[in-house]
Amino acid sequence: MDDYSLDLEAICSYVVEVAKEAGKIIHDAKPTSLTTITKKNTADIVTETDKAVERLIRDRLSARYPTFAFVGEETYHEGVAITDEPTFIVDPIDGTSNFVHGFPAVCVSIGLVVRRVPKVGVVYNPFRQELWRAAHGHGAYTSVAGGEPAKLPLTSSPLQGLGPACIGIEWGSDREGPNFELNLKVFTTLARTAATGGRFVNSLRCTGSAAITICRVANGQQEAFWECGSWAWDVAAAWCILVEAGGIMVDGHPGEWSPPVDNRRYLAVRPATTGQREFVEEFWSIIGDDRTTY
Ligand code: IPD
Ligand code: CA
Repeated sequence: MDDYSLDLEAICSYVVEVAKEAGKIIHDAKPTSLTTITKKNTADIVTETDKAVERLIRDRLSARYPTFAFVGEETYHEGVAITDEPTFIVDPIDGTSNFVHGFPAVCVSIGLVVRRVPKVGVVYNPFRQELWRAAHGHGAYTSVAGGEPAKLPLTSSPLQGLGPACIGIEWGSDREGPNFELNLKVFTTLARTAATGGRFVNSLRCTGSAAITICRVANGQQEAFWECGSWAWDVAAAWCILVEAGGIMVDGHPGEWSPPVDNRRYLAVRPATTGQREFVEEFWSIIGDDRTTY
């Protein structure tokens, strides 16, 4: 199917309705230790709400768009591939650790990709009633509590390298192995002063939701987000919002300027009149040849 025959704006509007319906379930849920399940380890968890919300989203989207494929975090299993067909990529709750702590950086993330390129993105945080939406070619917008939508980016100025940058990072749930060691190296290099071999960036932020952080980058409120090891459902929706706002998404490791949605290594850079390319190259230079398996 050709993406040009899809009414992306109409799809986006319907996805916003579904995200808000899902958001109400999340908002009203009361997660407890009894409804929280440990997956790989105590940093990788799921609740009954994640599963119920994914079921709801899948039912709604497959009833309206029966020919589109669906990939969701809670029903994904090894071997599921994202093909060129129109595919909804869904994280029912991005920020599950925040959700179980009552920390209000939690969202529903619904993306539509065509030929593995994000074309529609909706991210909705029900605790702040904060919505981001974008359809390819139609711009990206944010609104709070049903207020007037604002076009992204909210602010934009030239990028001036790593020094003045506020950068989103995440620890992820793997706390040993080569990717963890690379995290330690990148985080400390970004934080350290030049006298100790670092870049002394303005600040590092870790909010527990990749989707919300990429949306903040799209807003222009953070310069970048970097994570290796995250999944397509963490980034697909926010990626569309970022690009429609004028930002870029590149490989988290040096080299690839146009990675596929399931790349698992991501560097998002905010909208800017100049300096995006130089910013990426400076970031990549920290990693050098220090690659991992992702
Ligand atoms: C996680 C969050 C977190 C990121 C992890 C994701 P989840 O998603 O996006 O910020 O560091 O890689 O798995 O588990 O809350 O859906
Ligand atoms: Ca999730």
